[in-house]
Amino acid sequence: MKLSVIGCGYLGAVHASAMAELGHEVVGVDVDAGKIASLAAGRAPFFEPGLPEILASALETGRLRFTTDMAEVQGASVHFVAVGTPQSKDSYAADLTYVDGAIESLLPYLSEGDLVVGKSTVPVGTAARLAEIVDAGGSGAMLAWNPEFLREGYAVKDTIEPDRLVYGVADDRAVPILDEVYASAIGGGSPRLVTDYATAELVKVAANAFLATKISFINAMAEIAEVTGADVTQLADAIGHDARIGRRFLNAGVGFGGGCLPKDIRAFTARAEELGRGESVAFLKEVDAINMRRRDRVADLAVEVLGGSVFGRKVAVLGVSFKPHSDDVRDSPALDVAVRLKGLGADVVVTDPEGLDNARARHPQLLYTEVTDEALRHADLTVLVTEWPEYTALDPEHVASIVRQPLVIDARNALDSAAWKAAGFAYTGLGRS
Ligand code: UGA
Repeated sequence: MKLSVIGCGYLGAVHASAMAELGHEVVGVDVDAGKIASLAAGRAPFFEPGLPEILASALETGRLRFTTDMAEVQGASVHFVAVGTPQSKDSYAADLTYVDGAIESLLPYLSEGDLVVGKSTVPVGTAARLAEIVDAGGSGAMLAWNPEFLREGYAVKDTIEPDRLVYGVADDRAVPILDEVYASAIGGGSPRLVTDYATAELVKVAANAFLATKISFINAMAEIAEVTGADVTQLADAIGHDARIGRRFLNAGVGFGGGCLPKDIRAFTARAEELGRGESVAFLKEVDAINMRRRDRVADLAVEVLGGSVFGRKVAVLGVSFKPHSDDVRDSPALDVAVRLKGLGADVVVTDPEGLDNARARHPQLLYTEVTDEALRHADLTVLVTEWPEYTALDPEHVASIVRQPLVIDARNALDSAAWKAAGFAYTGLGRS
């Protein structure tokens, strides 16, 4: 099939490459000329495991190309809209400028029978509004909403083998078109659900709200564990054995960040309030508050373990991306903690395998190094904030030999506490006695 993908960020670049890899002919469009030049040259503009490989192989087949010129979508019959919906600058609501702009600029190029497919995360009600705009364009094109559930770090696999497909449609003729696009995933057993627009939009935000709630639930238990001497990791293991609860997404620590969970729960509360149902999701404000308190907790612990002040003390911050296997620092708890400690006067040195360039662009006032040992050398305190495998695999004996003081805060409860203690470290986890 001939497809276009509007927006070539973390979502669109992977979607375009994966669709071409599966045999479709794809044109990716973005307003960012630098990003397009990089993708066209086969260089992924961000770190995503597996993307460079499928990008290279899809470009090689000639089925994938990238452009800044919207007119080049002509000839494609399915147009995916994968632009960002960040938090508005002046409220919790989603900023729909890019989605609205993408639809407006697509309109002149749509033809009878074309399908516009929204993938961006939008407030419920958006698809119906956009469908009216597409209808008013008079092309005879249809609109479907097909939310994306990919996780950064696993985006390629999640796109090629999604754990479910959701088609929000107003016209049944959209269904066989989407089935043809996703023939490979459906053939591989991915379940697909056909819903109306509102349900499809809500499925996406409900899923992220549930995941955020699960993380904040265990972090709330960590807060209780901290004042009772209980151990939240053992608690999570024990309740996780109940299949109804499940152990995944029950890792207590510094909490969730990234470009999705934090802004999605905020946009959901803003939308529910607009709909007069603010109380239905009022608990998400508590989920958010618990999450933000975890960052305070890590900063407070740093002050505590350093005897009342971090001023002038060297703190090694291990990890700055919002989670491992990503270079994304959007709303990263790790970056937030580093900035807070710097604000308290600490001599902060940050290291990360992939996230340094993005972090440096946002917070040039921090010191960065690619070399883990350089961050650790003469550190008064080591704080693990993003559990990259290279940090969880560190040899604590070696670390002890280069730091100034054997103090470690494990803000992800990801280190082998017994091994670090055996190497002479005073180990502090979150929610652990
Ligand atoms: C999330 C969802 O998991 C995807 O399903 C969704 O498609 C995506 O948002 C999106 O809306 O586009 P992602 O932002 O890539 O994916 O990251 P997650 O793996 O969900 O992690 C989010 C945050 O939660 C990270 O900061 C992570 O460190 C934290 N987390 C995760 C915990 O603190 N504890 C856990 O047990 C799990």
